[in-house]
Amino acid sequence: MTSETNNSGNTGYPSVNLNLNVRGLTPSTTLAINELSAKLIEQGRDIIKFGLGQSPFPVPRPVVEALKENAHQKDYLAVKGLRELRDAVAQYHGRKHSIQCNGDNVLVGPGSKELMFLIQLVYYGDLCIPTPSWVSYEPQARIIGRPVRWLRTQAKHNWGLMPEELEELCASDPDRPRLVILNYPHNPTGYSYGEDKLRRLAEVARRYRVVMLSDEIYGELHHTGQHTSIAEYYPEGTIISSGLSKWCGAGGWRLGTFTFPDNLHWLLDAMAAVASETFTATSAPIQFAAVKAFVGGPEIESYLSTSRKILSQLRFCRNAFFRYLRRLPFPCDMNVSKRIDCCSLNSADRINRSINFCRFLGSFDVT
Ligand SMILES: Cc1ncc(COP(=O)(O)O)c(C=O)c1O
Repeated sequence: MTSETNNSGNTGYPSVNLNLNVRGLTPSTTLAINELSAKLIEQGRDIIKFGLGQSPFPVPRPVVEALKENAHQKDYLAVKGLRELRDAVAQYHGRKHSIQCNGDNVLVGPGSKELMFLIQLVYYGDLCIPTPSWVSYEPQARIIGRPVRWLRTQAKHNWGLMPEELEELCASDPDRPRLVILNYPHNPTGYSYGEDKLRRLAEVARRYRVVMLSDEIYGELHHTGQHTSIAEYYPEGTIISSGLSKWCGAGGWRLGTFTFPDNLHWLLDAMAAVASETFTATSAPIQFAAVKAFVGGPEIESYLSTSRKILSQLRFCRNAFFRYLRRLPFPCDMNVSKRIDCCSLNSADRINRSINFCRFLGSFDVT
């Protein structure tokens, strides 16, 4: 079909009328980086992929078996999730992180990413994100039309959020409602907070009654298995985000969970109301299979311990990456960490998005 334009510029087709918030929005950066990597590999380049957080491991056998056994589950389930799964997730957090909760505190969704979008939609307040960060938090805020307050971090603190930075932001307007996203083990740096830092961050969060969204999707993959949830120190204000995508190797199954404290039930209920008008419920067979994953057992623990061992050995990839960066002919007199600092802080050299950084890397042929 060809489009003909009449004198008034009318093509005869519906004109392009996009919501202002999504104009100029491109597909997720992680997907764009993946496509760029594939193109460079096709050209014969030696590429180490740090884009998509895709697990290299298969889904644990008992969980696959549970999915097979439940392939016939065809009914719409409750919007908040299968009762048995919500109970299993609550018990999992009780077992792993000593969190006092039950199935009523859990909301299940088609991936934690979708739940993050819902919380930003229903919560009325500032969204505060430490930078650098996973690439989807900010575009989600943009789609909803919510401004982001960036929290600065520094290389000398391994890009972790310092309690002083959070204090400074909150003290500037103490009564303002805030949703702070804390992500650890951290994407992209891998940094994880120790107990002392979590305790101090929790003190600040409590002082300013911040809602802390703790994105612990990589928690089980902490190399030494010593992940601690900030919910242990700030139980009344922390929502734990988790799911099957990383530790269970099932990103494509699309199942995420949020676990709320009792006093944030109003947020859970508002998110469930929006979910009931949008995705309705998460896939039934996947939810039945996920019960097995969250109930756990020796086979799953052994799978996790093997995954952690292998991942901790992959540090050499990270070190090779930094060696590679040091050999790049940077145009100005900056060391690598300062350069990344500039990238994340949107500074002078204009590499202000991860995809631009990858294009920049791809433009050099270092052998
Ligand atoms: C830090 C972080 N949080 C959340 C997600 C989304 O996970 P899900 O598959 O549960 O939507 C990802 C996925 O890459 C991630 O890296």
